[in-house]
Amino acid sequence: MKFFVDTADIDAIRELNDLGMVDGVTTNPSLIKKSGRDIMEVTKEICDLVDGPVSAEVTATDAETMIAEGRKLAEIADNIAVKVPLTWDGLKACKVLADEGKMVNVTLCFSANQALLAAKAGATFISPFIGRLDDLNVDGLELIADIREIYDNYGFETQILAASIRTANHMSECAKIGADVATAPPAVIKGMANHVLTDKGLAAFVADIEAAGIKIL
Ligand code: E4P
Repeated sequence: MKFFVDTADIDAIRELNDLGMVDGVTTNPSLIKKSGRDIMEVTKEICDLVDGPVSAEVTATDAETMIAEGRKLAEIADNIAVKVPLTWDGLKACKVLADEGKMVNVTLCFSANQALLAAKAGATFISPFIGRLDDLNVDGLELIADIREIYDNYGFETQILAASIRTANHMSECAKIGADVATAPPAVIKGMANHVLTDKGLAAFVADIEAAGIKIL
């Protein structure tokens, strides 16, 4: 499973990228707002830093303007994936931009039917939002499994990009289901390293190292 990092924070992306943890980046208007930076400028900086796909979201809601914005975003770098919402207009924009050879990430997906439409429209990525479904007591992981089954049934090449990931557990569950990609905030990716027994075991080893005066260097 590929790891995308869900942020527009350059320092956080750099830290994970240096460790080989970043196969791509996703942004959205809320993350751009949080960065406090100009969308074109910060997106260019991310594209220069990361080799893999960098999702940048359109701001319009009508197909024609989404297409124009998508073309402008795609000029930033070859690794831009234009992100469009899963609306009828978004699907129209997806089809046009995908036919032009651009990577398209169809976002705000909350149902298997929506994912089926995005694949038919030529999406490179479909972004089902796990956490926002979980917030409504709907099992977000079940949606990932449903889309996996449907795409595999018909050999759709659209990649499942599990999004709105809130916990480290979501990451391993997505990997078990077979999501192609999971995008998560930096803190969730770093949190995957944590285990209480690791901390406890290390504390015991450190105590023994000190007690025995064990030295290597
Ligand atoms: C990524 O592409 C999505 O925009 C993001 O994962 C949404 O996450 P949220 O539901 O935590 O805002």
